[in-house]
Amino acid sequence: MSSARATRDGPPRLLVRDLAQLATPAAGEAPLRGRLLAEVEVVEDAFALCEGGRIAATGRMRELAPLDGDVVELDGRGLSAVPGLVDCHTHACFAGDRVDEFALRAGGAGYEELHSAGGGILSTVRATRAASEEDLHAAVRRHRDWMLRAGTTTFEAKSGYGLDRETELASLRAIAEAGGAPTWLGAHAVPPEFEHGDAYLDFALAEVLPAAAELAEAADVFLERGVFNARQARRFLEACAGAGLALRLHGDQFSEQGAVPLAIELGGRSVDHLEATGPEGVRALAGSDVVGVLLPASALFLGRPMAPARALVDAGAAVALATDFNPGSAYCESLPIVCSVACTQLHLSPSEALGACTVNAAHVLGRAGTVGRLAPGYEADLVLLDAPDWRHLAYHLGGDLVAAVVRKGELAWRR
Ligand code: NIG
Ligand code: FE
Repeated sequence: MSSARATRDGPPRLLVRDLAQLATPAAGEAPLRGRLLAEVEVVEDAFALCEGGRIAATGRMRELAPLDGDVVELDGRGLSAVPGLVDCHTHACFAGDRVDEFALRAGGAGYEELHSAGGGILSTVRATRAASEEDLHAAVRRHRDWMLRAGTTTFEAKSGYGLDRETELASLRAIAEAGGAPTWLGAHAVPPEFEHGDAYLDFALAEVLPAAAELAEAADVFLERGVFNARQARRFLEACAGAGLALRLHGDQFSEQGAVPLAIELGGRSVDHLEATGPEGVRALAGSDVVGVLLPASALFLGRPMAPARALVDAGAAVALATDFNPGSAYCESLPIVCSVACTQLHLSPSEALGACTVNAAHVLGRAGTVGRLAPGYEADLVLLDAPDWRHLAYHLGGDLVAAVVRKGELAWRR
């Protein structure tokens, strides 16, 4: 980067110049579907000019007019730029790890079996409850920095490893403080001090929801056999909607329990996982405004079947891609790896994968029109890939791909 004096009233303009390519998905008031999801505009020999934290202009180098005043320049030779990635589904607020469980699973133990035996999610609940609020802040910041280095400039994170008032609220504060979009996953599991789901929900809705609704943007529930059933999920979500929260669901991960129709009926923003979704669910989702959030790193990590992503896109459903970053089912913070798996296992094209983890993910977070595209007016969030063709985003499986990340017009990380 060339040096330049900072202006007196804020960060200087940033010019990312001489990029081999600049790639941005199509614009959409609504989430991208069908052929529109595969539309990526690619500019060769390109620049991006950032001003006041936003994109001021993009185009070909030869169209770049002379710039007066202070400008910081970032040399993009040999690099390609895509929008800062948007991870719309993570569980980044947790303490401890589950490496022992990972080793047991490698030896044949099942994820649901470990959960029923009081391990799985509940073992992370024990570790998270034992952590101080400062520990939780540090954990979310650490995970956010991992994500940033993989190109994620906007992230959502869920609570759900506290399941008591104090730890749930501390988790939501830690997520917000780290710059994440907080989701109250108040119905992630039934903690051991409650005999059954309804007793836990009596507590959570009376004692936690009023304060959680002040801190979170959305609510989420794990609707699955052995966890919360459809009646309990409806009860939880209706109460959360009444408190002003947007609605998300973990649904059809291992079995279909009515998550898709419930999400549609309640006007949810998304239903996430969908590995067990059948043809009726695909049709219903395609005819609705609910975004299907695909989490292929989780299916891969658990050795489970992949979601019917190709059928969903071909039927016209709006889909997003996310990591599901968490210590149990997807210890993976990298959206580029998720894009790669989306191409090889979900049979999406690199263009569809890009649209799914930028524009469509921004819709899931209520941030469409603000993040997810490289176009004037959007936040100036860019990922510079160390390749002259942006499709290396998905092609380079887990490699040293991200050369630099720009967040709100400033260099946030450089290799
Ligand atoms: O999305 N399925 C529920 N929740 C997470 C996993 C949480 C965990 O195992 O700690 C998921 O896969
Ligand atoms: Fe999840």
